[in-house]
Amino acid sequence: MSGVFQDAIRSLLSPIANLLDDPGISEVMINGPYEIFVEKKGLVYKVDNRFPSEDSLISAMRAIAQSVHRVIDDDNPRLDARLPDGSRIHVVLPPMAKNGTTVAIRKFSKEKLTLKDLIQFGSLSEAAARFLDICIYLGKNIVVSGGTGSGKTTMLNVLGSRIPKTQRLIIIEDAAELQVKAEHVVNFETRKGNPDAGIEEVSIRDLVISAMRLRPDRIIVGEVRGDEALDLIQVMNTGHDGSMGTVHANNPIDACTRLETLCLMGETKIPPDAIRKMVGSAMQVIVQCSRYHDGGRRTSHISEILGVDSKGNYICRDIFKWVQTGKDPDTGKYLGEMVPCNYVPSFFEDIIVNKLPFPKSNFIAPDWVADLKRKAS
Ligand SMILES: Nc1ncnc2c1ncn2[C@@H]1O[C@H](COP(=O)(O)OP(=O)(O)O)[C@@H](O)[C@H]1O
Ligand SMILES: [Mg+2]
Repeated sequence: MSGVFQDAIRSLLSPIANLLDDPGISEVMINGPYEIFVEKKGLVYKVDNRFPSEDSLISAMRAIAQSVHRVIDDDNPRLDARLPDGSRIHVVLPPMAKNGTTVAIRKFSKEKLTLKDLIQFGSLSEAAARFLDICIYLGKNIVVSGGTGSGKTTMLNVLGSRIPKTQRLIIIEDAAELQVKAEHVVNFETRKGNPDAGIEEVSIRDLVISAMRLRPDRIIVGEVRGDEALDLIQVMNTGHDGSMGTVHANNPIDACTRLETLCLMGETKIPPDAIRKMVGSAMQVIVQCSRYHDGGRRTSHISEILGVDSKGNYICRDIFKWVQTGKDPDTGKYLGEMVPCNYVPSFFEDIIVNKLPFPKSNFIAPDWVADLKRKAS
């Protein structure tokens, strides 16, 4: 990391230098100068590092803000920024932060995980990975859903890199994080406005509108968290098949509801019932990422959305899901695997017509799953 941080910031951050340099640490959390935690392999530990004082911690944050041409002070007590090395930092100052200046640094990992890694970590079964590959090939609209740090961006990166080479991909993000390996990629990043300096804001919404006019084959919105949800839904419903995005939700149905709520945040004249139908028909496959209590990040569900029923409920069918079978007594890690759910997706015919090697038997759950259920009831 040396050379990337300016020397001043580097020396101001010296109390946590070893944490920033340790590639095994993915996140550094500072709860005031004297209490610091880190995340390692998904688990959170307290460390002995401390800043000498609240003032020294604030100085470090002020220098970081300055280096990205922003201000953090009593009038602007929150900072959301990206460090030169790609790490993301969020800061809240007292008196809002009761523990003292509170900071989280999500370290940028240069080594991006691949589909193979996810299989190796047990986050995805081989069959499920192949199925996702097929969904991408067939241009299904995919929404990756999950909580903070559950692996959404990682999953989107992996999925994006499987898009066929001949297609033009436009990626829109708040902070450029995705590094999709494809031949024809255009990256857009939003800009915060500053009316005093005459700088106009450019939002995700604005960029989606531009993207539509730039002949995309597919549009990817890194994180959908505002009224741009409606634009993405419309993109998905108007022939840009194979578009993708991530949303903050705890399960696949929740992801639908969340997108619906976000769509309604904007000033739209479309009635809520109609929005719900649009969401139901736009989303085809949901990949749910979850962080489990053992620290493991896993794909908990891959589900198909089949629209809404006559009562207005989303129709959601799980295709694959992760089932826990036990717990390793030594490491505390959960044992389990991703299994098919006895549901054949509605687009199975496309798989056959396109001669994709994925037999129907891959959707049949192994016997032990039913045995496990029987034992549990
Ligand atoms: N399946 C996985 N197994 C292990 N680590 C993972 C997995 N998916 C993501 N990670 C790691 O977890 C951290 C958070 O992932 P990220 O994709 O940024 O989450 P999100 O976008 O949901 O906030 C990163 O350090 C990433 O490398
Ligand atoms: Mg993310």
